[in-house]
Amino acid sequence: MKEVRVEASRSYSVYVQPGLIDSAGEYISSLIKGDTAVIVSDDNVSRLYGQRLRLSLEKSGFRVLEYVFPHGEKSKCMDVYIRLLEFLLENRLTRSDVIVALGGGVVGDLAGFAAATFQRGMGLIQIPTTLLAMVDSSVGGKTAVNLEHGKNQVGSFYQPYGVICDPETLDTLPEEEFLCGCAEVIKYAVLGSREFFDSLKGAGVRQNLEGVITACVEMKRDIVASDEFDTGRRMLLNLGHTVGHAVEACSGFTVLHGQAVAIGMAVISRAANRRGLLPDSDLHEILDILERFGLPTQTKYPALDLYRETLADKKSGSTHITLVVPRKIGSCELMKLEREEVLGWIEDGIKP
Ligand code: NAD
Ligand code: GLY
Repeated sequence: MKEVRVEASRSYSVYVQPGLIDSAGEYISSLIKGDTAVIVSDDNVSRLYGQRLRLSLEKSGFRVLEYVFPHGEKSKCMDVYIRLLEFLLENRLTRSDVIVALGGGVVGDLAGFAAATFQRGMGLIQIPTTLLAMVDSSVGGKTAVNLEHGKNQVGSFYQPYGVICDPETLDTLPEEEFLCGCAEVIKYAVLGSREFFDSLKGAGVRQNLEGVITACVEMKRDIVASDEFDTGRRMLLNLGHTVGHAVEACSGFTVLHGQAVAIGMAVISRAANRRGLLPDSDLHEILDILERFGLPTQTKYPALDLYRETLADKKSGSTHITLVVPRKIGSCELMKLEREEVLGWIEDGIKP
């Protein structure tokens, strides 16, 4: 089994091993004092893995409750959050009990925010079941729900007590969702490691799932340890996300997040190259790996529409926007630009 230790306001381990879901109860009982575990999940994931997790928790002596909501981003909202809090209260949960978030980033973000806020904070274990959640959202403590007109507008930093990653659960993940996770994996490689980038080109992701997940979690661990509350270096994790979020918004959220991040990485890499900041060979390698993973690198939306959506994004400041700019594979830089300058970057980046 692989173990990555995350040092933050609460320190914890991320365990990665195929089949781990069946011994989750053992790990959780070693971390949590309370006697009740609430599995929070969506309908898809609960149907596939809820019973196995319940058995494992019961075997370790927990009273087990389940709270299941419909899958999809729409459920990451105040209504579902409030109903979950009411459920916790009705069932007399206390701060020493635990929420076990079983699912992708939607489940992890919503259940994490409920754990952070119920009675000012209760136990939280993340069991991510999408590649995106394994390499990104389950680690680092960002929790949130959406408001009607803004994503992740209500949330908190709340580190889990542990993360249990069972790569076998990815066997049932739709291919399109798996590829979205691959976009985030490629993001880590472009951000932080030429060696990792080369290994992805060679062996891909599926062939070495445990190694790939562990490598990404280690990179995220290092970034979170140096900037847990996202005031500086952690912004590097937004590589591809500024334009990516704009593409998602222009498409009315029909382009999936990972696909949009791939487009965003391609756009920012082309623009950096045209400004002499990223060598030709590195640009071609970035575009090539995205295409090899079946991810898009072009967008049909005009620069002005993308720019308008970029300005509307919650991460945009009132006068400046911080772009994550690749300088070579394995190294990126934060560049604080005047808002108006960003239009030129987008124009340059969407040209083939
Ligand atoms: P998701 O949670 O919506 O899962 C995608 C789909 O896959 C859902 O339909 C789900 O039911 C299904 N699914 C999940 N696991 C499955 C499995 N093993 N087998 C079959 N189906 C499965 O989406 P996601 O991409 O995991 O997460 C996206 C969310 O994560 C967004 O809300 C985003 O804002 C958030 N996010 C948070 C952070 C963070 O740091 N907290 C980071 C990145 C993204
Ligand atoms: N997913 C971005 C972050 O954790 O900061």
